[in-house]
Amino acid sequence: MDRILLVEDNAAMREMLASIIAEKGYAVDAAADVAAAMALLRKEDHAVVVSDLQLPDMDGLTFLKRTRDLRLPFIILTAYGSIEKAVEAIKEGAWDFIAKPVDPDYLLLMIAKALAATRVERENLVLREVLRSEAGRTAIIGSSRELLQEAEKARQVAQTQATVLLRGESGTGKELFARAIHALSTRRDRPFLAINSASIPENLLENELFGHEKGSYTGAHLRQVGKLELAQGGTFFFEEIGDLPLPLQGKILRVLEEKTITRLGGGRPIPLDIRFVFATNQDLEQAAAERRFRQDLYYRITSFPIDLPPLRERRGDIPLLADHFVRRLSLEVRKREFTLSAAALEKLAGYSWPGNVRELQNAVERAVITAAGPEIGPAEIALPDRPFPLPDAMSLNGSLKEVSSRAQRLAEKLKISQVLAETGFNRTRAAEILEVSYKTLLDKIKEYGLAEKD
Ligand SMILES: Nc1ncnc2c1ncn2[C@@H]1O[C@H](COP(=O)(O)OP(=O)(O)OP(=O)(O)O)[C@@H](O)[C@H]1O
Ligand SMILES: [Mg+2]
Repeated sequence: MDRILLVEDNAAMREMLASIIAEKGYAVDAAADVAAAMALLRKEDHAVVVSDLQLPDMDGLTFLKRTRDLRLPFIILTAYGSIEKAVEAIKEGAWDFIAKPVDPDYLLLMIAKALAATRVERENLVLREVLRSEAGRTAIIGSSRELLQEAEKARQVAQTQATVLLRGESGTGKELFARAIHALSTRRDRPFLAINSASIPENLLENELFGHEKGSYTGAHLRQVGKLELAQGGTFFFEEIGDLPLPLQGKILRVLEEKTITRLGGGRPIPLDIRFVFATNQDLEQAAAERRFRQDLYYRITSFPIDLPPLRERRGDIPLLADHFVRRLSLEVRKREFTLSAAALEKLAGYSWPGNVRELQNAVERAVITAAGPEIGPAEIALPDRPFPLPDAMSLNGSLKEVSSRAQRLAEKLKISQVLAETGFNRTRAAEILEVSYKTLLDKIKEYGLAEKD
């Protein structure tokens, strides 16, 4: 039931208006002055304020300014002859004004309009998220067995209510898969909302997820609905779950288990009907083993994992994806169709794509923007120069230990091959320069596959 706050100092008038509003089925709080009104605002959630402009303890205009943070529609009641003041109130953000004597039907109409507008505002928030997702198309392109197998899993799980965990390096299509799962589920007409635990500071993250009750912390005048609640009935995509701070991991576990949420600052638990899709590019199992990630949460979310392979492990998808992106982007960006020459495709297929599909898409986009003719040649595709045939070594995936060990191996390999080249592949001399034993050098040459022609 929507609650209306009525502020009017004239007792007879106040009672009359309150009964008109109550009869229409609204809850009404009535106050005779601003002090009483403020006390009520702190206590209850009002949907609309109806207030006289002349009040005993404070000017109505000042009252309006003080409550502006609440973003409540504010309907001014104004005596005949003070229209100018009412206009000023509108400029200050009042919703509308009604001249006295008040026509009851007109007052009720104003209240209904103000309520409808606030509702639209809230729905728009959900709509914006949905539109954003529509723009980020859901077609999954690829023909490799590695990808198709995972796409098939996604299709199967989509129809269920199961919690899904998408694992894969950055740019492998986790969000694309999450949206596809949503689009293929019975929840497709409900919201799809996403949050990235790595991109929001811890203190804001909790508020963003759970929302808060009015006054739950300093500055929280207005009740705020969290993203989880906004996703009601739909799908919630939780990115970088591995980066979720430990205290919040406990809270999310509780949400999963109890299927309710409680806004910050108390209130009762609200039943929650959402499907969760989690994503991570970290090794969660390892994080759980090292207690950086709660084990109970780990088990709770890994019941249905989908593993998106890096692009370099399914090179067959590269030409398909490249063709798809060229066609789509050239029509979008250049308004006509461009193609990739065979040599350009070969160049793309030979690169290791540490940034995966996102990097490929960006490279193709750059080429489309700068291409001279309708056929894009290899020279028009700019790829970063890298010293080695594409080092998984340089990717930052995995634990610190894994990253360091790969980087160390890469540095060793580079250094040894450089010294071998300088010495004309004189192993004895190279071992001296490198200050390692002859045997160690031979082992390393073998390990890194450094043949003389290199
Ligand atoms: N199989 C695919 N078919 C078509 N487009 C794809 C495919 N995989 C990824 N993309 C596109 O590549 C881009 C990156 O994908 P996405 O955002 O889903 O990656 P991600 O795994 O969520 O990355 P991150 O971990 O960095 O958030 C998106 O524009 C997405 O549409
Ligand atoms: Mg993502």
